[in-house]
Amino acid sequence: MCASLWDSISVGGLELRNRAVMPAMGTGYATLQGHVSDRLQAYHRARAAGGVGLIVTEVCAVHPSGRAFPSELGIYDDTFLHGLRELAAAIKIEGAGAAVQLHHAGRETFPSVIGEQPLAPSPIPSRAMGQVPRELGEDEIHELVHCFAEAARRAREAGFDAVEIHGAHGYLVHQFISPYSNLREDGYGGDSSGRFRFAREVVREIKSVAGEDFPVLFRFSASEEMKGGYELEYILPLLPMLEEDGVDAFHVSCGIYDSPGNPTSPGMHHPEGINVERAAAVKAAVAKPVIVAGKIHDPRLAEEVLRTGKADMVAFGRQHLCDPDFLAKEARGRHDDTRFCLSCNQGCIERLTFEMRSTTCVINPHCGRELEVEQSGPPAPGPFLVAGAGPAGLQAAITLKEAGAEVRIVEREKMAGGQLRAASSPPGKEPLAAWVKWAENRLRSLGQEIEFGGEANARTLASEEWMGVVNACGARPLLPVLPGAELPINLEARQVLLGLAGAGGDVVVVGAGPVGMETAHYLVDRGCRVTVVDGRDQPPVSPLTSHGYFLHRTLRKNGTLLLETQVLEVGEAGVMVMARGERRQLRADKVVWAVGSLPETDIAEAAQQAGLTLVSAGDAVEPRRLLDAVHEGYRAARQLLYGDADHA
Ligand SMILES: Cc1cc2nc3c(=O)[nH]c(=O)nc-3n(C[C@H](O)[C@H](O)[C@H](O)COP(=O)(O)OP(=O)(O)OC[C@H]3O[C@@H](n4cnc5c(N)ncnc54)[C@H](O)[C@@H]3O)c2cc1C
Ligand SMILES: Cc1cc2nc3c(=O)[nH]c(=O)nc-3n(C[C@H](O)[C@H](O)[C@H](O)COP(=O)(O)O)c2cc1C
Ligand code: SF4
Repeated sequence: MCASLWDSISVGGLELRNRAVMPAMGTGYATLQGHVSDRLQAYHRARAAGGVGLIVTEVCAVHPSGRAFPSELGIYDDTFLHGLRELAAAIKIEGAGAAVQLHHAGRETFPSVIGEQPLAPSPIPSRAMGQVPRELGEDEIHELVHCFAEAARRAREAGFDAVEIHGAHGYLVHQFISPYSNLREDGYGGDSSGRFRFAREVVREIKSVAGEDFPVLFRFSASEEMKGGYELEYILPLLPMLEEDGVDAFHVSCGIYDSPGNPTSPGMHHPEGINVERAAAVKAAVAKPVIVAGKIHDPRLAEEVLRTGKADMVAFGRQHLCDPDFLAKEARGRHDDTRFCLSCNQGCIERLTFEMRSTTCVINPHCGRELEVEQSGPPAPGPFLVAGAGPAGLQAAITLKEAGAEVRIVEREKMAGGQLRAASSPPGKEPLAAWVKWAENRLRSLGQEIEFGGEANARTLASEEWMGVVNACGARPLLPVLPGAELPINLEARQVLLGLAGAGGDVVVVGAGPVGMETAHYLVDRGCRVTVVDGRDQPPVSPLTSHGYFLHRTLRKNGTLLLETQVLEVGEAGVMVMARGERRQLRADKVVWAVGSLPETDIAEAAQQAGLTLVSAGDAVEPRRLLDAVHEGYRAARQLLYGDADHA
């Protein structure tokens, strides 16, 4: 049957107001003991208020040995009940259904997190974690099955409407299912029916302990998306068995943490709706509702998926971090007001897993700060000057204007966006330009114009009684100082990406940081033969991030990366380099420099001389990334408006 996103649906007797789901997303907002915090409640309540039908909490550990990170939510004893009750109530009071995601990390954790050797079906480490786990004994397996059931009983007692078993992304339930991680020869391994046994027992035990009428969702990876991993045909036969065991809905995801490029949270280069066709195949195999997740940010795409009958419900994960009100906006016909997720992973999953910091969103500085927003006092009225309309300046101006302050924003170029204009040029990076459009649109709707083509300088500072100034002037590219630097063969990366300087044939890109690697990608896409050189001994762009993986893969297939290589001099036909101690000539028609940038500080110095209050934000402080620019723009504005101390 074809449906609309706005149609209600029943999942195991649970009536949901629509077919939009917020899937489980780890936040790091719980206490270090895994208890619900006020911050976590406020974050969830804001998303429930945005209109979603069902919210699934982040991973919630069913046993202390199953925690993947120190502040993972817990549900393994009754001390967690009080906080979980408050969390369920915060979600339900806004009209959304609330489910707990039941989780055990298995081998995907560290002894430093759980205080013992990680546990798994077989003693083989994952590539991602590198931890040799201890093989579980049969008694321990039975105990863990029971822990899942006890956790479900607690979820029900706390007022949750349902539970979801985390059988995806390479965690314990998935580890049992997969031949990649389960090499057991006993009744929990050997063949697919043995490997499926743990998942089936967990479902049956939950139904028996928490009640047949308590809805159970099952999340799984429809493909491991890696060499040697399973594909949909392998796991499909498990699903009707689980349906028989009592599963009330299936939630289709993909990948494990060993999968290259991390398709569990598909990046800028993954296709939209990565799991839609897999969900359609699942729907053909089961009668219960099917939820599909994976880079569906736009409700219009979700409508298409539902209209064509490929799934019954659609999960919007990162889109909920990026704009918790997007469903309400869509329902009111305000599609263009939505701030769409960039699929960059920088502020959310990669921050959580690689930086061990709590989740936020690159372009939504309110994400995780819902309490702070609620607690604002009366703002200073301005006038405020914002110098620069790159991401830091745009966000600062939005925050100032949203608080009702008087603002003037001055941009030297004829367009907004700063470095994002160049950054959005390589293939897959277009969403960055869409965010700039969104920010300009937001300012327009607040009645704020940007003054283009004029430089903010000492005269601008003297032109009014400014209550404060934001220095969002960003950074200018560093240029080489070496023999031949003056030759026309030399180009700067931003010029190339903006199409202001043509490059073809053989190109040497100097600098393997994100700008150099992306410029290489852009040039490869235009048929150039590219060599990237860098003096460092390790690639500065990590191949473990979703974006970094694609950049390295592109360069491996279509170009060369030379590390520990310094450019000594540039000539008419190329560059002389010192490569691992040896002098070498590299032929080049063009040499493109991507060796960093230098903060713009003129306005800060002028403000200091004029005795004005100035706060710098983004690359004007130190060249970094979009997250720093947007979040510091937000903080700078709040500092001027409310005198907030920085507690990001
Ligand atoms: C090719 C490239 C790719 C990138 N890709 C990514 C990425 O994928 N992810 C990521 O996180 N980061 C990326 N970055 C970095 C990111 O773009 C920057 O960190 C970010 O743009 C910094 O924002 P900002 O507002 O501080 O400064 P900028 O973007 O530099 O903006 C500053 C603005 O101020 C204006 N200005 C300067 N002086 C004055 C003045 N006196 N008066 C008025 N206006 C002035 C400038 O014209 C400019 O528009 C990339 C950068 C480049 C160059
Ligand atoms: C910050 C973050 C944390 C996540 N944590 C979980 C989790 O706890 N459990 C889970 O099943 N999936 C987790 N995921 C995966 C998401 O549920 C979702 O499947 C994925 O982001 C793809 O959907 P999207 O493109 O709509 O974001 C996480 C994703 C992100 C971005
Ligand atoms: S940090 Fe990037 S991927 Fe994550 S929610 Fe924000 S825009 Fe989306």
